[in-house]
Amino acid sequence: MFQLLSTVIVLALIPSQWSWGNPMIDGVNAQTNNAPRDVPAIYLFGDSTADSGNNNEMLTIARANFPPYGRDFDTRHASGRFSNGKMTSDWITDFLRLPLAPPYMSPEAQMFPFQGANFASAGAGILNNTGNVLGQKISGWQQIELFLQRRNELIAKMGVDAASTHLRDSILYIATGGNDYIHNWITNDTDAALLPHDQFNNLLLTTFENQLQVLYNAGARKVAVLGIGPVGCAPHFLWLSNTTTGECMETVNQYVSQFNDGLREMLVRFNQQHQGAHFVYRDIWNTVYSMAKFPQNYGFTNGDTACCGLDHYGGGSRCLSPSMVCENPPANVWWDEYHPSHRANNFIARQIWSGVDPSTTTHNSTSTTVYSFLTVQQLAALELTDV
Ligand SMILES: *[C@@H]1O[C@H](CO)[C@@H](O)[C@H](O)[C@H]1NC(C)=O
Ligand SMILES: *[C@@H]1O[C@H](CO)[C@@H](O)[C@H](O)[C@H]1NC(C)=O
Ligand SMILES: *[C@@H]1O[C@H](CO)[C@@H](O)[C@H](O)[C@H]1NC(C)=O
Ligand SMILES: *[C@@H]1O[C@H](CO)[C@@H](O)[C@H](O)[C@H]1NC(C)=O
Repeated sequence: MFQLLSTVIVLALIPSQWSWGNPMIDGVNAQTNNAPRDVPAIYLFGDSTADSGNNNEMLTIARANFPPYGRDFDTRHASGRFSNGKMTSDWITDFLRLPLAPPYMSPEAQMFPFQGANFASAGAGILNNTGNVLGQKISGWQQIELFLQRRNELIAKMGVDAASTHLRDSILYIATGGNDYIHNWITNDTDAALLPHDQFNNLLLTTFENQLQVLYNAGARKVAVLGIGPVGCAPHFLWLSNTTTGECMETVNQYVSQFNDGLREMLVRFNQQHQGAHFVYRDIWNTVYSMAKFPQNYGFTNGDTACCGLDHYGGGSRCLSPSMVCENPPANVWWDEYHPSHRANNFIARQIWSGVDPSTTTHNSTSTTVYSFLTVQQLAALELTDV
Protein backbone atom coordinates (compact mmCIF):
# COMPACT_ATOMS: atom_id res chain seq x y z
CA MET A 1 0.00 0.00 0.00
CA PHE A 2 2.74 2.45 0.96
CA GLN A 3 4.57 1.35 -2.12
CA LEU A 4 1.53 2.14 -4.24
CA LEU A 5 0.93 5.45 -2.51
CA SER A 6 4.48 6.63 -3.02
CA THR A 7 4.23 5.63 -6.65
CA VAL A 8 1.18 7.82 -7.10
CA ILE A 9 2.85 10.72 -5.31
CA VAL A 10 5.99 10.48 -7.40
CA LEU A 11 3.92 10.43 -10.58
CA ALA A 12 1.94 13.44 -9.43
CA LEU A 13 5.17 15.36 -8.86
CA ILE A 14 6.39 14.89 -12.40
CA PRO A 15 5.65 18.05 -14.35
CA SER A 16 3.18 17.00 -16.98
CA GLN A 17 5.42 18.09 -19.81
CA TRP A 18 8.68 17.01 -18.30
CA SER A 19 11.14 15.37 -20.56
CA TRP A 20 14.91 15.06 -20.56
CA GLY A 21 16.37 18.51 -21.14
CA ASN A 22 13.39 19.33 -23.25
CA PRO A 23 10.13 20.37 -21.60
CA MET A 24 8.29 21.18 -24.83
CA ILE A 25 8.68 18.93 -27.81
CA ASP A 26 7.75 21.02 -30.83
CA GLY A 27 4.47 21.78 -29.15
CA VAL A 28 3.64 18.08 -28.95
CA ASN A 29 1.86 17.43 -25.72
CA ALA A 30 4.05 14.97 -23.91
CA GLN A 31 1.65 14.18 -21.08
CA THR A 32 1.85 10.57 -20.12
CA ASN A 33 -1.91 10.30 -19.76
CA ASN A 34 -2.25 11.03 -23.45
CA ALA A 35 -0.19 7.97 -24.28
CA PRO A 36 -2.00 5.11 -25.92
CA ARG A 37 -3.49 3.25 -22.97
CA ASP A 38 -1.36 0.19 -23.46
CA VAL A 39 2.01 1.88 -23.70
CA PRO A 40 3.30 3.08 -20.34
CA ALA A 41 6.86 3.79 -21.48
CA ILE A 42 9.54 3.34 -24.09
CA TYR A 43 12.92 1.65 -23.52
CA LEU A 44 15.68 2.28 -26.03
CA PHE A 45 18.76 0.29 -26.94
CA GLY A 46 21.46 0.60 -29.55
CA ASP A 47 23.92 3.10 -30.94
CA SER A 48 24.32 6.78 -31.77
CA THR A 49 21.05 6.75 -33.69
CA ALA A 50 19.24 6.36 -30.35
CA ASP A 51 21.69 7.59 -27.66
CA SER A 52 20.24 10.68 -25.97
CA GLY A 53 23.24 11.43 -23.76
CA ASN A 54 24.58 8.27 -22.12
CA ASN A 55 28.06 8.91 -23.50
CA ASN A 56 28.29 12.48 -22.22
CA GLU A 57 30.45 11.65 -19.21
CA MET A 58 32.46 8.88 -20.84
CA LEU A 59 35.98 8.87 -22.23
CA THR A 60 35.14 8.54 -25.89
CA ILE A 61 35.29 10.50 -29.08
CA ALA A 62 31.74 9.23 -29.79
CA ARG A 63 30.07 12.20 -28.09
CA ALA A 64 27.77 14.92 -29.36
CA ASN A 65 27.21 17.13 -26.33
CA PHE A 66 28.65 20.28 -27.87
CA PRO A 67 27.46 22.76 -30.50
CA PRO A 68 26.45 22.59 -33.29
CA TYR A 69 24.70 19.35 -32.23
CA GLY A 70 21.20 20.12 -31.03
CA ARG A 71 21.07 23.53 -32.77
CA ASP A 72 17.61 22.79 -34.19
CA PHE A 73 16.33 20.91 -31.16
CA ASP A 74 13.48 22.65 -29.34
CA THR A 75 15.77 23.64 -26.50
CA ARG A 76 18.76 24.35 -28.80
CA HIS A 77 20.64 22.24 -26.26
CA ALA A 78 23.39 19.81 -27.28
CA SER A 79 22.07 16.93 -25.20
CA GLY A 80 24.35 14.28 -26.67
CA ARG A 81 22.08 13.40 -29.58
CA PHE A 82 23.86 12.85 -32.90
CA SER A 83 21.50 15.14 -34.78
CA ASN A 84 20.90 18.81 -35.40
CA GLY A 85 17.51 18.15 -33.80
CA LYS A 86 15.62 14.96 -33.14
CA MET A 87 16.70 11.42 -33.68
CA THR A 88 14.37 8.89 -35.27
CA SER A 89 13.71 7.46 -31.80
CA ASP A 90 12.64 10.91 -30.52
CA TRP A 91 10.06 11.19 -33.29
CA ILE A 92 8.75 7.69 -32.47
CA THR A 93 8.49 8.73 -28.81
CA ASP A 94 6.50 11.78 -29.92
CA PHE A 95 4.17 9.65 -32.02
CA LEU A 96 3.56 7.47 -28.96
CA ARG A 97 2.81 10.68 -27.03
CA LEU A 98 5.29 9.67 -24.39
CA PRO A 99 7.88 11.87 -22.71
CA LEU A 100 11.44 11.37 -23.90
CA ALA A 101 13.02 8.57 -21.88
CA PRO A 102 15.93 9.81 -19.75
CA PRO A 103 19.40 8.43 -20.51
CA TYR A 104 19.97 5.72 -17.93
CA MET A 105 23.31 7.32 -17.01
CA SER A 106 21.64 10.64 -16.11
CA PRO A 107 20.32 11.54 -12.63
CA GLU A 108 16.87 11.95 -14.20
CA ALA A 109 16.70 8.22 -14.82
CA GLN A 110 16.59 7.67 -11.07
CA MET A 111 14.30 10.64 -10.42
CA PHE A 112 11.72 9.43 -12.93
CA PRO A 113 11.91 5.65 -12.85
CA PHE A 114 8.52 5.13 -14.52
CA GLN A 115 9.25 7.21 -17.61
CA GLY A 116 11.14 4.54 -19.48
CA ALA A 117 14.87 4.65 -19.97
CA ASN A 118 17.39 5.04 -22.73
CA PHE A 119 20.30 2.57 -22.65
CA ALA A 120 21.67 3.34 -26.12
CA SER A 121 25.30 4.33 -26.43
CA ALA A 122 27.14 5.85 -29.36
CA GLY A 123 29.77 3.49 -30.74
CA ALA A 124 28.04 0.37 -29.42
CA GLY A 125 26.96 -2.58 -31.51
CA ILE A 126 25.85 -6.16 -31.09
CA LEU A 127 29.33 -7.47 -30.32
CA ASN A 128 31.15 -6.47 -27.13
CA ASN A 129 34.26 -5.19 -28.87
CA THR A 130 32.53 -3.15 -31.52
CA GLY A 131 33.43 0.53 -31.21
CA ASN A 132 36.29 -0.06 -28.77
CA VAL A 133 38.50 2.00 -31.03
CA LEU A 134 36.36 5.07 -30.21
CA GLY A 135 36.62 4.76 -26.44
CA GLN A 136 34.18 3.87 -23.68
CA LYS A 137 30.61 2.91 -24.41
CA ILE A 138 27.81 0.75 -23.06
CA SER A 139 28.04 -2.41 -25.13
CA GLY A 140 24.98 -4.30 -26.36
CA TRP A 141 25.16 -6.86 -23.55
CA GLN A 142 25.79 -4.16 -20.94
CA GLN A 143 22.69 -2.29 -22.13
CA ILE A 144 20.67 -5.43 -21.52
CA GLU A 145 22.23 -5.84 -18.08
CA LEU A 146 21.16 -2.27 -17.25
CA PHE A 147 17.65 -3.05 -18.46
CA LEU A 148 17.55 -6.02 -16.07
CA GLN A 149 18.74 -3.67 -13.32
CA ARG A 150 15.92 -1.26 -14.13
CA ARG A 151 13.48 -4.17 -14.09
CA ASN A 152 14.61 -5.01 -10.55
CA GLU A 153 14.18 -1.37 -9.55
CA LEU A 154 10.64 -1.40 -10.93
CA ILE A 155 9.82 -4.63 -9.11
CA ALA A 156 11.08 -3.06 -5.88
CA LYS A 157 8.93 0.03 -6.43
CA MET A 158 5.76 -1.42 -7.98
CA GLY A 159 5.73 -5.05 -7.06
CA VAL A 160 6.29 -7.89 -9.45
CA ASP A 161 2.82 -7.95 -11.02
CA ALA A 162 2.65 -4.26 -11.85
CA ALA A 163 6.23 -4.27 -13.07
CA SER A 164 5.55 -7.24 -15.34
CA THR A 165 2.49 -5.58 -16.84
CA HIS A 166 4.42 -2.34 -17.29
CA LEU A 167 7.21 -4.09 -19.18
CA ARG A 168 4.84 -6.27 -21.20
CA ASP A 169 2.95 -3.20 -22.44
CA SER A 170 5.96 -0.93 -22.97
CA ILE A 171 7.63 -0.53 -26.35
CA LEU A 172 11.27 -1.53 -26.68
CA TYR A 173 13.14 0.17 -29.52
CA ILE A 174 16.40 -1.36 -30.71
CA ALA A 175 18.62 0.29 -33.31
CA THR A 176 21.93 -1.50 -33.55
CA GLY A 177 24.24 -3.38 -35.90
CA GLY A 178 25.54 -0.49 -37.99
CA ASN A 179 28.66 -0.10 -35.85
CA ASP A 180 29.41 -3.81 -36.09
CA TYR A 181 30.19 -2.91 -39.70
CA ILE A 182 31.40 0.71 -39.45
CA HIS A 183 33.59 0.31 -36.36
CA ASN A 184 34.44 -3.36 -36.54
CA TRP A 185 34.15 -5.57 -39.61
CA ILE A 186 34.84 -3.09 -42.40
CA THR A 187 37.74 -1.51 -40.53
CA ASN A 188 39.24 -4.84 -39.39
CA ASP A 189 39.08 -3.58 -35.82
CA THR A 190 38.73 -6.88 -33.95
CA ASP A 191 39.38 -10.59 -34.36
CA ALA A 192 35.79 -11.09 -35.47
CA ALA A 193 36.54 -8.89 -38.47
CA LEU A 194 38.88 -11.59 -39.77
CA LEU A 195 35.88 -13.86 -40.39
CA PRO A 196 34.45 -14.11 -43.89
CA HIS A 197 31.21 -12.16 -44.15
CA ASP A 198 28.86 -15.15 -43.97
CA GLN A 199 30.40 -16.24 -40.69
CA PHE A 200 30.54 -12.72 -39.29
CA ASN A 201 26.90 -12.24 -40.22
CA ASN A 202 25.98 -15.48 -38.45
CA LEU A 203 27.90 -14.38 -35.37
CA LEU A 204 25.98 -11.08 -35.32
CA LEU A 205 22.63 -12.78 -35.74
CA THR A 206 23.16 -15.52 -33.14
CA THR A 207 24.50 -12.99 -30.62
CA PHE A 208 21.57 -10.67 -31.31
CA GLU A 209 19.09 -13.53 -30.95
CA ASN A 210 20.60 -14.42 -27.56
CA GLN A 211 20.18 -10.79 -26.51
CA LEU A 212 16.54 -10.73 -27.64
CA GLN A 213 15.98 -13.95 -25.73
CA VAL A 214 17.11 -12.28 -22.49
CA LEU A 215 14.71 -9.39 -23.14
CA TYR A 216 11.87 -11.83 -23.77
CA ASN A 217 12.70 -13.74 -20.59
CA ALA A 218 12.61 -10.43 -18.71
CA GLY A 219 9.05 -9.90 -19.92
CA ALA A 220 9.44 -7.71 -23.01
CA ARG A 221 6.74 -8.44 -25.60
CA LYS A 222 6.44 -5.37 -27.85
CA VAL A 223 9.82 -4.90 -29.45
CA ALA A 224 10.65 -2.84 -32.55
CA VAL A 225 13.92 -4.01 -34.06
CA LEU A 226 15.29 -1.66 -36.70
CA GLY A 227 17.23 -2.96 -39.65
CA ILE A 228 20.52 -1.30 -40.57
CA GLY A 229 20.43 1.59 -43.02
CA PRO A 230 22.45 1.79 -46.25
CA VAL A 231 25.68 2.80 -44.51
CA GLY A 232 27.49 2.74 -47.85
CA CYS A 233 25.53 5.89 -48.74
CA ALA A 234 26.68 7.81 -45.65
CA PRO A 235 28.93 10.77 -46.53
CA HIS A 236 31.86 9.15 -44.76
CA PHE A 237 31.84 6.26 -47.23
CA LEU A 238 31.37 8.53 -50.22
CA TRP A 239 34.47 10.38 -49.04
CA LEU A 240 36.33 7.12 -48.42
CA SER A 241 35.54 5.74 -51.88
CA ASN A 242 36.83 8.88 -53.62
CA THR A 243 33.71 8.94 -55.75
CA THR A 244 33.13 12.11 -57.71
CA THR A 245 29.61 11.25 -58.77
CA GLY A 246 28.04 10.51 -55.41
CA GLU A 247 27.49 6.77 -55.78
CA CYS A 248 27.06 4.79 -52.62
CA MET A 249 29.60 2.11 -51.73
CA GLU A 250 27.38 -0.74 -52.86
CA THR A 251 29.73 -3.41 -51.52
CA VAL A 252 29.10 -2.08 -48.02
CA ASN A 253 25.38 -1.85 -48.71
CA GLN A 254 25.29 -5.47 -49.84
CA TYR A 255 26.82 -6.68 -46.58
CA VAL A 256 24.33 -4.70 -44.57
CA SER A 257 21.42 -5.94 -46.72
CA GLN A 258 22.51 -9.49 -46.07
CA PHE A 259 22.35 -8.81 -42.33
CA ASN A 260 18.88 -7.30 -42.70
CA ASP A 261 17.65 -10.33 -44.64
CA GLY A 262 18.94 -12.64 -41.92
CA LEU A 263 17.41 -10.46 -39.23
CA ARG A 264 13.96 -10.67 -40.83
CA GLU A 265 14.15 -14.44 -41.02
CA MET A 266 15.40 -14.68 -37.46
CA LEU A 267 12.54 -12.52 -36.16
CA VAL A 268 9.88 -14.53 -37.98
CA ARG A 269 11.26 -17.67 -36.36
CA PHE A 270 11.68 -15.98 -32.97
CA ASN A 271 8.02 -14.95 -32.89
CA GLN A 272 6.91 -18.45 -33.85
CA GLN A 273 9.01 -19.97 -31.09
CA HIS A 274 8.08 -17.54 -28.29
CA GLN A 275 4.53 -17.29 -27.11
CA GLY A 276 3.17 -13.75 -27.07
CA ALA A 277 6.29 -12.28 -28.64
CA HIS A 278 5.80 -9.35 -31.02
CA PHE A 279 9.36 -8.62 -32.04
CA VAL A 280 8.90 -6.73 -35.30
CA TYR A 281 11.40 -5.89 -37.99
CA ARG A 282 11.22 -2.28 -39.07
CA ASP A 283 13.02 -1.40 -42.24
CA ILE A 284 14.91 1.87 -42.60
CA TRP A 285 17.09 0.80 -45.53
CA ASN A 286 14.60 1.68 -48.22
CA THR A 287 13.59 5.06 -46.82
CA VAL A 288 17.17 6.22 -46.29
CA TYR A 289 18.32 4.90 -49.66
CA SER A 290 15.45 6.59 -51.38
CA MET A 291 16.12 9.91 -49.63
CA ALA A 292 19.80 9.71 -50.51
CA LYS A 293 19.08 8.99 -54.17
CA PHE A 294 15.96 11.12 -54.68
CA PRO A 295 16.28 13.92 -52.12
CA GLN A 296 13.98 16.22 -54.06
CA ASN A 297 11.09 13.76 -53.55
CA TYR A 298 11.27 14.61 -49.88
CA GLY A 299 11.91 18.32 -50.20
CA PHE A 300 15.68 18.07 -49.74
CA THR A 301 18.15 19.52 -52.19
CA ASN A 302 21.12 17.44 -51.09
CA GLY A 303 21.20 13.68 -50.53
CA ASP A 304 24.90 12.93 -50.38
CA THR A 305 26.70 15.63 -48.39
CA ALA A 306 26.91 16.03 -44.63
CA CYS A 307 25.68 19.43 -43.54
CA CYS A 308 28.36 19.51 -40.85
CA GLY A 309 31.74 18.12 -41.89
CA LEU A 310 34.80 18.75 -44.04
CA ASP A 311 36.23 17.67 -47.36
CA HIS A 312 34.36 15.80 -50.11
CA TYR A 313 30.75 15.13 -49.17
CA GLY A 314 31.56 16.54 -45.74
CA GLY A 315 32.64 12.98 -45.00
CA GLY A 316 36.29 13.56 -44.16
CA SER A 317 35.77 14.71 -40.61
CA ARG A 318 33.44 14.46 -37.68
CA CYS A 319 31.21 17.45 -37.02
CA LEU A 320 33.30 19.45 -34.56
CA SER A 321 32.29 23.08 -34.58
CA PRO A 322 29.51 25.47 -35.58
CA SER A 323 31.77 26.89 -38.30
CA MET A 324 31.44 23.59 -40.18
CA VAL A 325 27.65 23.86 -40.54
CA CYS A 326 26.16 24.26 -44.02
CA GLU A 327 24.02 27.23 -44.94
CA ASN A 328 20.65 25.53 -44.93
CA PRO A 329 20.55 22.43 -42.71
CA PRO A 330 16.94 21.42 -43.54
CA ALA A 331 18.01 20.99 -47.18
CA ASN A 332 20.33 18.08 -46.33
CA VAL A 333 19.41 14.46 -45.80
CA TRP A 334 22.64 14.01 -43.82
CA TRP A 335 23.54 16.03 -40.76
CA ASP A 336 27.04 14.65 -40.23
CA GLU A 337 29.22 11.97 -41.82
CA TYR A 338 27.06 9.11 -40.48
CA HIS A 339 23.78 10.53 -39.17
CA PRO A 340 20.64 11.70 -40.94
CA SER A 341 19.26 15.13 -40.10
CA HIS A 342 16.27 16.12 -37.95
CA ARG A 343 13.95 16.22 -40.99
CA ALA A 344 15.30 13.01 -42.50
CA ASN A 345 14.78 11.29 -39.15
CA ASN A 346 11.14 12.36 -39.28
CA PHE A 347 10.66 10.55 -42.60
CA ILE A 348 12.41 7.46 -41.27
CA ALA A 349 10.25 7.50 -38.14
CA ARG A 350 7.04 7.83 -40.15
CA GLN A 351 7.96 4.69 -42.05
CA ILE A 352 8.71 2.82 -38.83
CA TRP A 353 5.50 4.07 -37.24
CA SER A 354 2.90 3.58 -39.94
CA GLY A 355 4.60 2.71 -43.19
CA VAL A 356 3.01 0.16 -45.38
CA ASP A 357 5.77 -2.24 -44.63
CA PRO A 358 5.26 -5.88 -45.07
CA SER A 359 9.06 -5.46 -44.99
CA THR A 360 9.38 -6.20 -48.61
CA THR A 361 12.74 -7.09 -50.01
CA THR A 362 15.33 -4.35 -50.02
CA HIS A 363 17.27 -3.13 -52.99
CA ASN A 364 19.68 -5.84 -54.07
CA SER A 365 18.34 -8.04 -51.36
CA THR A 366 19.43 -11.63 -51.46
CA SER A 367 16.02 -12.77 -50.26
CA THR A 368 12.83 -12.82 -52.25
CA THR A 369 10.45 -13.62 -49.41
CA VAL A 370 8.00 -10.99 -48.27
CA TYR A 371 7.47 -10.91 -44.53
CA SER A 372 4.70 -9.20 -42.74
CA PHE A 373 5.44 -7.39 -39.50
CA LEU A 374 3.31 -5.04 -37.44
CA THR A 375 4.09 -1.32 -37.58
CA VAL A 376 5.00 0.39 -34.32
CA GLN A 377 1.58 2.03 -34.38
CA GLN A 378 -0.06 -1.41 -34.53
CA LEU A 379 2.32 -2.68 -31.87
CA ALA A 380 1.27 0.16 -29.58
CA ALA A 381 -2.42 -0.64 -30.05
CA LEU A 382 -2.05 -4.36 -29.36
CA GLU A 383 -3.79 -5.46 -26.22
CA LEU A 384 -1.89 -8.21 -24.46
CA THR A 385 -3.28 -10.22 -21.60
CA ASP A 386 -0.76 -12.85 -20.58
CA VAL A 387 2.23 -11.84 -18.56
C1 LIG B 1 30.24 -9.83 -23.57
O1 LIG B 1 30.16 -9.10 -22.36
C2 LIG B 1 29.32 -9.70 -21.38
C3 LIG B 1 29.31 -8.76 -20.19
O2 LIG B 1 28.68 -7.57 -20.51
C4 LIG B 1 29.83 -11.07 -20.99
O3 LIG B 1 28.94 -11.67 -20.09
C5 LIG B 1 29.93 -11.93 -22.25
O4 LIG B 1 30.52 -13.16 -21.92
C6 LIG B 1 30.78 -11.24 -23.30
N1 LIG B 1 30.75 -12.01 -24.53
C7 LIG B 1 31.84 -12.34 -25.20
C8 LIG B 1 31.66 -13.16 -26.43
O5 LIG B 1 32.95 -11.98 -24.82
C1 LIG C 1 40.66 -5.58 -43.97
O1 LIG C 1 41.19 -6.86 -44.25
C2 LIG C 1 40.86 -7.32 -45.56
C3 LIG C 1 41.34 -8.74 -45.71
O2 LIG C 1 42.60 -8.91 -45.15
C4 LIG C 1 41.47 -6.36 -46.60
O3 LIG C 1 41.11 -6.77 -47.89
C5 LIG C 1 40.93 -4.95 -46.35
O4 LIG C 1 41.54 -4.04 -47.22
C6 LIG C 1 41.15 -4.52 -44.92
N1 LIG C 1 40.46 -3.25 -44.71
C7 LIG C 1 40.97 -2.25 -44.02
C8 LIG C 1 40.12 -1.03 -43.89
O5 LIG C 1 42.06 -2.30 -43.49
C1 LIG D 1 41.19 7.17 -52.34
O1 LIG D 1 42.31 8.00 -52.61
C2 LIG D 1 43.37 7.84 -51.67
C3 LIG D 1 44.43 8.88 -52.00
O2 LIG D 1 44.66 8.95 -53.35
C4 LIG D 1 43.90 6.42 -51.76
O3 LIG D 1 44.93 6.21 -50.82
C5 LIG D 1 42.76 5.43 -51.47
O4 LIG D 1 43.19 4.10 -51.64
C6 LIG D 1 41.57 5.70 -52.39
N1 LIG D 1 40.47 4.85 -51.97
C7 LIG D 1 39.76 4.10 -52.80
C8 LIG D 1 38.67 3.27 -52.18
O5 LIG D 1 39.98 4.07 -54.00
C1 LIG E 1 22.60 -3.14 -56.95
O1 LIG E 1 23.89 -3.69 -57.13
C2 LIG E 1 24.53 -3.30 -58.34
C3 LIG E 1 25.83 -4.07 -58.47
O2 LIG E 1 26.38 -4.38 -57.24
C4 LIG E 1 24.74 -1.78 -58.32
O3 LIG E 1 25.35 -1.38 -59.51
C5 LIG E 1 23.38 -1.11 -58.19
O4 LIG E 1 23.58 0.29 -58.07
C6 LIG E 1 22.64 -1.63 -56.96
N1 LIG E 1 21.30 -1.07 -56.97
C7 LIG E 1 20.69 -0.72 -55.86
C8 LIG E 1 19.34 -0.15 -56.05
O5 LIG E 1 21.18 -0.81 -54.76
